[in-house]
Amino acid sequence: MTKRFRAPGRVNLIGEHTDYNDGFVMPAAIELETVATVGGSGWHSTDEPTGWTKYVEGVLKQLRQRGVAVPDVGLTFESTIPLGAGLSSSAALEVSAALAMLWAANGSMEKIEIAKACQQAEIETVGLGCGVMDQFASLHGVEGHAVMLDCRSLEHRLVPIPKNLALVIADTGVKHQLASSEYNARRADCEAAARKMGVSSLRDAATHGGDRRARHIVSENRRVLQFAEALAQEDRKAMGQLMAESHESLRVDYEVSCDELDAMVGAAQECVGLVGARMTGGGFGGSTINLVEAELASEFARQLAAGYRERTGIEARTYVTQAAAGAGPV
Ligand code: GLA
Repeated sequence: MTKRFRAPGRVNLIGEHTDYNDGFVMPAAIELETVATVGGSGWHSTDEPTGWTKYVEGVLKQLRQRGVAVPDVGLTFESTIPLGAGLSSSAALEVSAALAMLWAANGSMEKIEIAKACQQAEIETVGLGCGVMDQFASLHGVEGHAVMLDCRSLEHRLVPIPKNLALVIADTGVKHQLASSEYNARRADCEAAARKMGVSSLRDAATHGGDRRARHIVSENRRVLQFAEALAQEDRKAMGQLMAESHESLRVDYEVSCDELDAMVGAAQECVGLVGARMTGGGFGGSTINLVEAELASEFARQLAAGYRERTGIEARTYVTQAAAGAGPV
């Protein structure tokens, strides 16, 4: 008997780089996903680049460390998540592998523990000092909802996304080399700023104390809370404003945007049906998230690709999607 487990990618609506500062995030699982099939021997993948097995090894190690007796298990991975697009193909790989291994071991773990084990695999085996957002979203996503997570208490709340809004993801087609080292450098900046202010993390900073990195984190946490309100009220103007402010803050204060992301967000302003646009994920390339009137979403995506092409000469890949269900058996 073959057994299959799916794990979706994620897009973050707002709350960027706040997860490793004990702050708030609001991702949604998306319809693009990775499927792990248990069977045969060895690990195979139809599309992952060199180096993908270390994520699977990392997960195996973390599960065994937690006392799960994972046997030697054959796994084949297939994915519809584009690589390097900032849509958490690695979290989806980790989570699908974890579910498959748990099944093979006849074991079980709380979803939050699986998320933490997969996060730890990424920190230890890949060397990215990431937060828990991506793995959490892949596991806890619910169709039609964003997941608002408090990264300190790890409590979450589902926020319905109005049915007449579509998520349009636009992949800039670039992934800058710096991404991983700069990511770790931002994390170190935040920790240094927190120490200077005498707080355990920037979540607790009441003001930014003149520090640009802190100013992003403090203002972004506030924006997540306001965005949840705006979404509930279907207040399109407020949503658009908060997404624009988030992008500016990431560009100017946190310095994780790039010309291509700025061009994509700029191009979106001229397209039909836009509610709000910003970069999503770690930055330095990858994708933007656009909240768009659902009935205009395909036309929006067409116009956006054309506007981006005009500005950069690059062909963008766009995805009109909805918030999807979190990981589980197929
Ligand atoms: C990457 C990390 C997440 C998060 C985002 C930025 O996706 O894996 O933990 O920090 O960047 O918000």
